[in-house]
Amino acid sequence: MQPQNRFLQRAKDWDKLPRRVQNAKSVAAAIDKECPLNTELSLLDFGVGTGLLGFEILPCVKEIIGVDTSEVMLEQLKEKNTTEHFITPHLGDILQTPLEKKFDGVISSMTLHHIENLEHFFQTMAQHLQQDGFIAIADLEKEDGTFHSNNEDVFHFGFESQTLKNIAQNNGFKNIKIKQIHTIQKTKEYGVFLLTAQKK
Ligand SMILES: C[S@@+](CC[C@H](N)C(=O)[O-])C[C@H]1O[C@@H](n2cnc3c(N)ncnc32)[C@H](O)[C@@H]1O
Repeated sequence: MQPQNRFLQRAKDWDKLPRRVQNAKSVAAAIDKECPLNTELSLLDFGVGTGLLGFEILPCVKEIIGVDTSEVMLEQLKEKNTTEHFITPHLGDILQTPLEKKFDGVISSMTLHHIENLEHFFQTMAQHLQQDGFIAIADLEKEDGTFHSNNEDVFHFGFESQTLKNIAQNNGFKNIKIKQIHTIQKTKEYGVFLLTAQKK
């Protein structure tokens, strides 16, 4: 399976799964609690998908640029955009071709496990942030490889907090905190964490 195929097949029905919607709401509530959101901020949503997280956060900030490598996921996002409630879509891999713009914060949900090189990920996020900008990254806690039915584009079976903290620390971030914020119930429970940090 090519990395995009998972989302090619699922994009149209992505928002129909209540556990996905609930996860995005829980991540948004945790970001709102942990990060200093205000209506002056420009945020980057990395792996925005259909905008499940982004549209929850949008009313609290000035603007969100949603980047994704999947055209079909962004098509779903665009259908949800209105003139009052608008996430700017950007199709492309900013890990390969960074944006010119710098942001006040980066948010992301359930995308990190699809990114192979974590050192490069944190460096690139730091490169996209203003001084003291923040990241708020939600993903799965360490799991046994059963979360996805097909693991071909899954580079990490969740994350161990200390390992991830060390990587963030060594690649441009300080004040790193990781908290469990949610659990996803499938045939068993999977923990979801939120990592927050500031650019050094
Ligand atoms: C599991 S989905 C999560 C989507 C959304 N954040 C949510 O919570 O519903 C992961 C998303 O990350 C995107 N993605 C994977 N690799 C990416 C990359 N290198 N850059 C940007 N997006 C990427 C996928 O296309 C997909 O839309």
